[in-house]
Amino acid sequence: MAVNNPTRSERSTSSTNGKVHADDMRSSKASPVMNQRGKELQKYGTLRMIPIGLPDKARQENIEALNQILADTMTLRDLYQKHHWQVAGPTFYQLHLLFEKHYNEQNELVDQVAERIQTLGGISIAMAPDVAEMTSIPRPPRGAEPPPVQISRLLEAHEMIIKQVRAAAKQADENGDDGTNDLLVSAVLRTNELQTWFVAEHVVDTDLVHAD
Ligand SMILES: [Fe+2]
Repeated sequence: MAVNNPTRSERSTSSTNGKVHADDMRSSKASPVMNQRGKELQKYGTLRMIPIGLPDKARQENIEALNQILADTMTLRDLYQKHHWQVAGPTFYQLHLLFEKHYNEQNELVDQVAERIQTLGGISIAMAPDVAEMTSIPRPPRGAEPPPVQISRLLEAHEMIIKQVRAAAKQADENGDDGTNDLLVSAVLRTNELQTWFVAEHVVDTDLVHAD
């Protein structure tokens, strides 16, 4: 690609009477090559060969399911961070800490699911605008909502993901992709079920001081 760098002969004539011209003060050899664009190595939605002994059809099916789970997991992760920042009220501190813990655990799942997609020969969804187009989790308002509403949104998002994960794990089992099945069941499903329990207990209407 063409870059506006001086040639070797131009550089060698850059100094006259001990003065260096402003244009020649930059060493092109030591400067980074900027503004580069080129063809994609692999287009989103296509499959590349990876020698892990799985048929293309199985890899393609599981990549598609994993990308949907990835988009929804990234959205749930960001929902936890939004609520970590915006939570208010008497339970502020415990929810602030719990939401951060779950955010970190979801972030770990995002990395594992994305790397599984790459391992299968696919392309992982990555950027926020693409995630926003793909996710099935409803968009919350920008403003702060009270804790019961925050928790309802989280529980609904968890359940949507859990249902998808069970279906994708079954598909992976049926098409012989044990690695994907293991990731979905051992990591994604179990983390989401456990987080659901921790969050759901906060909206059980118990007596605080006097029992019925
Ligand atoms: Fe924080």
